[in-house]
Amino acid sequence: MTLLMAENGISVSIQDPSSETVDALIKSADEQGIHGKLSKYENYKDLCASLGSPKVIFFSLPHGTVGDTVVEGLYKYLDKGDIIVDCSNEEWENTQRRQGKLVAQGVYYIGCGVSGGYQAARRGPSMCPGGQEAALDIMMPLFKKMAAKATDGTPCVAKIGMGGAGHYVKMIHNGIEHGMMSCISEAWEIMHKHMGMEHDDISKVFAKWSSEGELKNTFLVKIGAEICAQKDKSGHHVLGDVQDKVVQDIDGSEGTGIWSNTQATSLHVPAPTLSTAHYLRIVSAFRGQRKHVAETFHGSFLPSKFTFSSTSEQEAFIEDLRLAVYSTCLAAYVQGISIIDVADKQNRWCIDFGNIVKIWRAGCIIQADHISSLLAAIFHPSSTSPHKNHNLLFEPAIVADLKLGFESLKRIVAKGVQENAVVPSMSATLEWLKYSGNLELPTQFYEAELDYFGKHMYDSKHLDKGPDHPETGKRHFEWKPA
Ligand code: 6PG
Repeated sequence: MTLLMAENGISVSIQDPSSETVDALIKSADEQGIHGKLSKYENYKDLCASLGSPKVIFFSLPHGTVGDTVVEGLYKYLDKGDIIVDCSNEEWENTQRRQGKLVAQGVYYIGCGVSGGYQAARRGPSMCPGGQEAALDIMMPLFKKMAAKATDGTPCVAKIGMGGAGHYVKMIHNGIEHGMMSCISEAWEIMHKHMGMEHDDISKVFAKWSSEGELKNTFLVKIGAEICAQKDKSGHHVLGDVQDKVVQDIDGSEGTGIWSNTQATSLHVPAPTLSTAHYLRIVSAFRGQRKHVAETFHGSFLPSKFTFSSTSEQEAFIEDLRLAVYSTCLAAYVQGISIIDVADKQNRWCIDFGNIVKIWRAGCIIQADHISSLLAAIFHPSSTSPHKNHNLLFEPAIVADLKLGFESLKRIVAKGVQENAVVPSMSATLEWLKYSGNLELPTQFYEAELDYFGKHMYDSKHLDKGPDHPETGKRHFEWKPA
C-alpha cells in the first residue's frame, strides 16, 4: 500500500521496527520506477515531525494489543485534526474504544477494512472505511485513488458508517469469505477424492464455472482453477503438497472468523454457512486429534467413490455441484448481510447497504459478479423491490436463485452423506434453507421439553382457549411421569 500511495503522488514517511523491511521497500520502489517518494524514520517522533498538517498515519497490524501499543506510542505526537487510518483486520470494538480515547485530543481514527491480500494491496484493494464523517471526507479522495476499480471504473471504496462500522463490515466480509472457501473446497474434495478427477481436470471445471453463469468472475472459484493447475519446478502439482491444516493464530493477526460467528450468535442471526466453515477450519488445525479419532472409529469415515452410469450422468452431477456451490456462496452473503443489518441498527451506524455492494465488486476476496448485480439491484436507491429488506430471504430475486439451487444442493448433500464426503457448509446451507422456511419445526417438541423440566412456558397453538398467563400469552402444563 505504501508503493500504491507513492505511485499516486503521495510522499510517504515510513517507520517499522525492522529497518531491513523499510530498506527493502525503498529498494523495491526504486526498482519499480518510483523515486524520491519514500523516506525512512527510526521513531514515531521523527516520523510525525516529517508530516504536514493534518498528519495522516496509516498502519496495518495484528489486532488487539499490538495496535494499542502503536496508538499509545503515537499519541503524544498527534495534534487536533490528525487522522489515523487503521487498515488492520482489527476488532470493531477496539476501533471504537480507540476512537473514544482519541476524540478527547481531537484526533480522528478511521477503521478501514482492506481486502484483496498483498497483491491487491499493491494494485488497489477494496476498502471499507468507517469512523468520523469529517475525517472520512478528508480521506475519501486519496482512498478513491488507491482503491480497486470496478469494471465501470468506479472505485471500490465508500464511507461505510460511523464508529467501527468499517471494521465490522470487513469482519463480516471475512466470515462470508470463509463460507465461500469452505463450499468451494468441499466441491474440490468431491471431484478429487470421490470422483477421482485429476487436478488439471478440476482446474478446467473451476475455469468454466468462473467464466459464465451464476459463478462468473467469482474470485475464489477463479483462483481455484489456477491453484489446481499450478505445478512446481519438478512438474508436480503444488496443491498435492499442501497439508489440510488451516491454523489460526487467535492471539495474532487472525480473528475475523471467530468474531463474525460470535457476532451472529450474540445478535441472534442464524449464520450456519459461516459457522460450519469456521468449525471445519478449527478441526482442520488439529491434525493429531483427527488422526486419533480416525483410528478410534476404525475407518468409519473413509470416503467412497461416486459411480456414474454414463458421462451425461457425471456431467449432470457436476452441474448440480456448481449450483450447490453457488447456493452456498449466496447463502453466506445473505447471512452476512443480516448480521450487518442487526448490528447496524443496534449501533446506529447508518450504513448504506448500497455502499457495501459497491466496495465488494472488485479488489476483494468475495467478489462475485452475479451476486453483486443481484444485491446492487436490491439496494439501489431507485429499487422497486417490494421489501428492500436486509433480510435477503424476503427478496424475490434472491429467493428465485436459492430455489433454483435447492434441488441440486439436496442431491449433492444426499450423495455426500451417503459416501462420507465432508460437506459441512453445503449441508448446513441446505438445513438453514429448510428450517428458515418451515412452519412445523421440531422445536415444537423442544419447547415441550423445556416446559416439562424448566417451566419455560410455551405459546399455545389455541390461544382462543385463553392463555394461562395473560401478559405473555404463554402457558405452562404440569407434565407428569406416566
Ligand atoms: C482479505 C482477507 C484477509 C485475511 C484472510 C485470512 O479480505 O484480503 O480477508 O484480510 O488475511 O481472510 O484471515 P484469517 O486467517 O484471519 O481468517
